[in-house]
Amino acid sequence: MKAKRYFNTTGFCRPEKHYMLDPLRNQSVIFDLIEKEQYFTIHAPRQTGKTTLLHALANRLNKEMNYISTVFSVENAGYKSIPLPEAMRTIIESLYEESTKFLPNNELPPKLTGYKKSHNLLYMYLSAWAKQMEKPIVLLLDEIDSLYDDVLVAVLRQLRNGFQGRPKQFPSTIALVGLRDVREYKTKVRPSEASLGSGSPFNIKAKSILLGTWTKEEIAELYSQHTKDTGQIFSKEVVDRIYELTGGQPWLVNAIANEIVVEILKRLHKKNNTRSRGRGERKFNRQTRHAFGQLNR
Ligand SMILES: Nc1ncnc2c1ncn2[C@@H]1O[C@H](COP(=O)(O)OP(=O)(O)OP(=O)(O)O)[C@@H](O)[C@H]1O
Ligand SMILES: [Mg+2]
Repeated sequence: MKAKRYFNTTGFCRPEKHYMLDPLRNQSVIFDLIEKEQYFTIHAPRQTGKTTLLHALANRLNKEMNYISTVFSVENAGYKSIPLPEAMRTIIESLYEESTKFLPNNELPPKLTGYKKSHNLLYMYLSAWAKQMEKPIVLLLDEIDSLYDDVLVAVLRQLRNGFQGRPKQFPSTIALVGLRDVREYKTKVRPSEASLGSGSPFNIKAKSILLGTWTKEEIAELYSQHTKDTGQIFSKEVVDRIYELTGGQPWLVNAIANEIVVEILKRLHKKNNTRSRGRGERKFNRQTRHAFGQLNR
């Protein structure tokens, strides 16, 4: 039997477990950039769906089999006192580990033995991987702006150096993903690191993509998936109110639905039958307002 899906409020979404909007809807620009072997950034505030989008993208590309794609986070190297060679090693370890979740053995990056800590380890490792592969690599690097100072600059410099060698000797596309756009990464580095002249490592991207909040129609589409499974209707009044209160912020839209469905409807369902449906729906709307109060506490 197919497991029941639910409104996700913890971490990124997976289509088999969660009610979900397709994160790749309206993102044909990303596929264009990949086709043109471009580097780009995706940025948005916390809990907007960045990691969800990256996973959907890597899974789609791997399934279509024209590219090798993986998502990994650099946040383990995201503290100020980390020595540069140590940071580079931490980053490639994370890349290798995460890749095992996305790729078959014959497409994995090189084994880590033989890669000692060094300043330009990321460059060497990515070059070695690309040279071994027939297909172009699409690398999706999450939490880029968790890095500081010379580590952030060194990562960007190495990606920039490799850029010229793509797609045979370096990943053909790299997306840098985080809270800020690339220009604003400079706020994460010491002034001495930021003055990099014309060879600035901050200029490798072709485009910045900003993820937005959801429209009323998108909220209604998400909730209709739950309606299909359970018969429980979110009336237009409820959707309008949720839109007004959340501004279409994706996590909040899920959290309020979860609060309504799990906490309130459990109680309501027991009492509700066809005869009392109108009464039930009025109560449901009233309870929605109450649920917001609970979330805001
Ligand atoms: N496509 C989607 N469909 C449904 N809900 C989504 C979708 N994308 C994101 N969400 C909601 O947003 C939450 C956060 O998703 P995700 O972890 O992908 O965001 P993020 O921007 O990477 O967050 P962070 O900056 O904290 O890493 C999910 O738990 C879910 O509630
Ligand atoms: Mg994330």
